[in-house]
Amino acid sequence: MPELNMVWQPLCQSSDLEESGRAVLFDVIEFGHTVQAFAVRHDNVAVAYLNRCAHVPTAMDWQEGQFFDQDKRFIICSIHGAMYEPLNGRCVAGPCPGARLLSIELKEEGGEVFWRPTDRFQPVF
Ligand code: FES
Repeated sequence: MPELNMVWQPLCQSSDLEESGRAVLFDVIEFGHTVQAFAVRHDNVAVAYLNRCAHVPTAMDWQEGQFFDQDKRFIICSIHGAMYEPLNGRCVAGPCPGARLLSIELKEEGGEVFWRPTDRFQPVF
């Protein structure tokens, strides 16, 4: 089994994540497969999740990088309208209440955003 990489990975500039704006998309390896994740900012906190709805495992953005509802209050799945709290990924309305998006830990340092690999999510090389 290859050694796991647990080193914080550079993702983007802090300024790339506008408040409740367009997401920065990035790929991670999950169980040997490349999958898409996204980072957004809400209430001035940068958060990241897999781009996979908790209802049906499919990408959620109706247009690439667009994850917020009209009011910029919730992350919304474009397929059946599940609405997620941006800061914790918990579904609060729609077909899967209480279910959660899979989160990826972020940190901001020196104007840059980094994500932390886990034994589940590894960087793409
Ligand atoms: S697939 Fe997202 S709400 Fe059904």
